[in-house]
Amino acid sequence: MSLHNIAESFVTELRPGVEPGRVLIAEDTELLLERIAQFLCFEGHSVQTAISGGEALECVENCPPDIILCDVLMPGIDGYEFSRRVKSDPATAHIPIIMISARGQREEVVRGLEFAEEYVTKPVDLRELKARVDSMLRLKRAQDAVRAANQKLEDTVRRRTVRLRLSNRRLAREVRRREETESAVRTLTRRIITVREDERGALAMDMHDDVGQCLLAAKLDLQATFARLAQDVDVTTEADRILKRVDTIASRIRQISHSLSPIGLRNLGLQDAIQNMVEMFMESHPVVKIETRLAHLDDYFPGAWDVNLYRIVQESLANALKHARATRIIVSDELLAAGAGLRVCIRDDGCGFEFGQGDGIGLFVMKERAQLSGGVCTIYSRKSSASETDEVSGTEVQIDFNPG
Ligand SMILES: Nc1ncnc2c1ncn2[C@@H]1O[C@H](COP(=O)(O)OP(=O)(O)OP(=O)(O)O)[C@@H](O)[C@H]1O
Ligand SMILES: [Mg+2]
Repeated sequence: MSLHNIAESFVTELRPGVEPGRVLIAEDTELLLERIAQFLCFEGHSVQTAISGGEALECVENCPPDIILCDVLMPGIDGYEFSRRVKSDPATAHIPIIMISARGQREEVVRGLEFAEEYVTKPVDLRELKARVDSMLRLKRAQDAVRAANQKLEDTVRRRTVRLRLSNRRLAREVRRREETESAVRTLTRRIITVREDERGALAMDMHDDVGQCLLAAKLDLQATFARLAQDVDVTTEADRILKRVDTIASRIRQISHSLSPIGLRNLGLQDAIQNMVEMFMESHPVVKIETRLAHLDDYFPGAWDVNLYRIVQESLANALKHARATRIIVSDELLAAGAGLRVCIRDDGCGFEFGQGDGIGLFVMKERAQLSGGVCTIYSRKSSASETDEVSGTEVQIDFNPG
């Protein structure tokens, strides 16, 4: 229902007979005061009386009436001043005032109506007074209804504003989170592209420097051997050297293809595949001792080839050899207490590191891969410091698989 409708229904409801209200009469002529009071009491209104402006103000403050009848001439605070004070207080400004005066001149009436809603001249005609009181009460009720509806509306708007502000804040947080995620994804994509290019470069270099050089040497050896053959010289030593060079080439190609994709290892099972990889790493890094203590992998992942775990071990070994200056690396597995799962560990005795150094993606991808395989990858590292030479440093990568 609109405010206008509410006000209208109120007026229509009250028109035949006005619901009684609280009336305050301020009049210093006691006889007239009593007459009006009795009349209005008879009409059903509850009436308060005051014989001065000051007393009337107290009544308004203590028990605000629905309507005020007020004489103009009173001792102390007169009717004009009383009305001015009532109307200038926002708490009482809405109370309608009917001014009663013996003076009926135009200027008096105009001055009275500056703060009052109605002006009645003495001698008071009680029927006219009743009509004006009723009409003012109807108006007051309608205005009260409008004010109440306004108040309700304001409350609703305030509540909604608060809700809106809250959801705005939530939305802003969400937008910020998304922006952060998008920026992280962009950074990662850039790193992936760079790493892929680096990887291709490294492979090209391996092929060119290792395989290419070996092939060239083998070709030169072959040419020399043919020349010696033409002179009928024994070429057993040269043939032996060529065979060794071909073996080296084959071994390098095997290493490169394994690092690209561990083809053929699926048939071996995870344990043997890791063992194979370790042997290849040892071939290329003969000074580092890499130990494997694997006993449960194949039982824990029966018949399953987990390329992710294979890659995590590969990345951990590569990191230990590339960054750690380790002398010893241990790859092990252990069953966690009473069916709590399996832990795979790659531990090195290298220099350790602080997280956040370097701009590679190996560690990040390791964690992602562990999650893909239903595990959790945690990395512990302790950096060695020059001042504490006895300090144990190194890095441990733990991958935990919990059943269920
Ligand atoms: N075992 C380790 N010992 C010492 N430092 C390590 C070890 N593992 C990682 N780091 C440090 O953490 C950094 C990040 O490693 P991460 O594997 O993410 O990247 P990367 O090896 O530099 O590059 P890539 O993306 O090729 O793996 C490395 O640059 C290195 O400084
Ligand atoms: Mg790495």
